[in-house]
Amino acid sequence: GPVVSADITWHEGGVPSQQKEELLGQRGCVLWFTGLSGSGKSTVAATLEHTLHGLGCATALLDGDNVRHGLNRDLGFSAADREENIRRIGEVAKLFADAGVITLVSFISPYRQDRDRARALLAPGRFLEVFMDTPLEVCEQRDPKGLYKKARAGQIKGFTGIDDPYEAPEHAEVALPARDASGRPYQPQEHAASLLRMLVQ
Ligand code: PPS
Repeated sequence: GPVVSADITWHEGGVPSQQKEELLGQRGCVLWFTGLSGSGKSTVAATLEHTLHGLGCATALLDGDNVRHGLNRDLGFSAADREENIRRIGEVAKLFADAGVITLVSFISPYRQDRDRARALLAPGRFLEVFMDTPLEVCEQRDPKGLYKKARAGQIKGFTGIDDPYEAPEHAEVALPARDASGRPYQPQEHAASLLRMLVQ
């Protein structure tokens, strides 16, 4: 059987986060993307995840596809359900970050109070709010799923930006604009690259 030295202490609460981070050679953190539907948050988060993985980092990506179809499939888009959606996602993100994983979270997360609650679960410096600062008219122009069109036609009620509020962050660690100073649109890879520079510094 296994030989366990008498001076190894088995912590009741499991292996401390710091030791998990030493094993992985990285710091666990949460990158919390917020922005309107169609603002580009999922694309930038997925692009950044691929880059980090390629650099040998342990990552996790939480977004609508793996959360609203699984853990949160009982939730809709009322104010109470969005709050509960973000509360659960914040707790799951904390579990991943405490395991040493670089955790990318991509949800509209329209209410400032809910994002601040998720932030409060983590130590300072381990939660970075990334605001996809794409104007509504640009999101509506893109309309990748045709949902803005439906919302304008009254076929979807309570759509964020149309007839449900989006509270833009006031203290986001990063704000990613849709266009540069000369009006040229940013590509998702450019935003992912600037986030990577921020992470490694
Ligand atoms: S929230 O507000 O954070 O709980 O929303 P989230 O979990 O990110 O889900 C947003 C995606 O769900 C689709 N959808 C809606 N969005 C906003 N308002 C309403 N009423 C709504 N109904 C469905 C929409 O496709 C969002 O996708 P994204 O990826 O953001 O474009």
